[in-house]
Amino acid sequence: MLKTKLWDIEFKNPVFLAAGVMGETGSALKRMAKNGAGAVCTKSVGIEKKPGHNNPTMVEVEGGFLNAMGLPNPGADEYAGEIERIKDEMKRMNVKIIGSIYGKNDSEFQKAAEIIGNYVDVLELNISCPHAGGGYGSSIGQDPYLCKNVVSAVKDVSDIPVIAKLTPNVTDIKEIANAVVNAGADGIVAINTLGPGMVIDIESGVPILGNRVGGMSGKAVKPIAVKNVYDICSAVDVPVIGVGGITTGADAIEFMMAGASAVQVGTGVYYRGYDIFQKINNEIEEYLLKKDLKMSDIIGIAQK
Ligand code: DHB
Repeated sequence: MLKTKLWDIEFKNPVFLAAGVMGETGSALKRMAKNGAGAVCTKSVGIEKKPGHNNPTMVEVEGGFLNAMGLPNPGADEYAGEIERIKDEMKRMNVKIIGSIYGKNDSEFQKAAEIIGNYVDVLELNISCPHAGGGYGSSIGQDPYLCKNVVSAVKDVSDIPVIAKLTPNVTDIKEIANAVVNAGADGIVAINTLGPGMVIDIESGVPILGNRVGGMSGKAVKPIAVKNVYDICSAVDVPVIGVGGITTGADAIEFMMAGASAVQVGTGVYYRGYDIFQKINNEIEEYLLKKDLKMSDIIGIAQK
């Protein structure tokens, strides 16, 4: 009932692990897979090892979290080994692997794609991370011209589906969606974190995060994510994966009604535990059974 075919890949269900959550090691990914995810997404990996920002890298706020991890990762070659170790077991469980990669520019993205692309089922381009260039604020995902170059460079060296993860921090998300699809993106993931935002400790007057500012995720960003998915689906004709504040089957269904073919979950892992994937799948199934609907009946229904 929940089987989801995107491109020529069959996923056992449409509830995936989002990038940046429990994805820093192969064993963490495997743990999420065992808890019922249809696919798991790695933490974003670049061509070189990166230690990440100073602590604290995450702070809870009303309605969600601010994070500025600083893209900590062991570098593409080393991370490839992490995936290699879990690959057979992931196959046995029929859980697909999405490799999230980042870079400062198109050539870094291309190099990371050449390495990680050999180990995963789908490549996700984190063109929306505010920390890729070193500072905080602007990202490749805010400029349609840069987006196009990165997607084309990766498509040139990839024979698996390439999906672009977009930032909501833009004036016109449809323009960005069109740019990545025209450059050959096979799908879109929306959204990455909102903001950035800041939390200040009023005893010391110092911003709490080591990086001072961080991207906002969590329940409060969900309506913004749903609207972005809705807009993207109205503009382009590739599969869209919805992400942003999902904790329940009802949340996932809302994204599907906006047009998403699948969802990624990060926030929910925090609030409902590692078996969140099984729980959300059960809740989607219950809803469909109660209403006597199939998934294809609800996808994009809000567009009508
Ligand atoms: C980080 C990465 C992201 O893509 C994001 O939206 C926020 C933070 C990070 O690793 O710092």
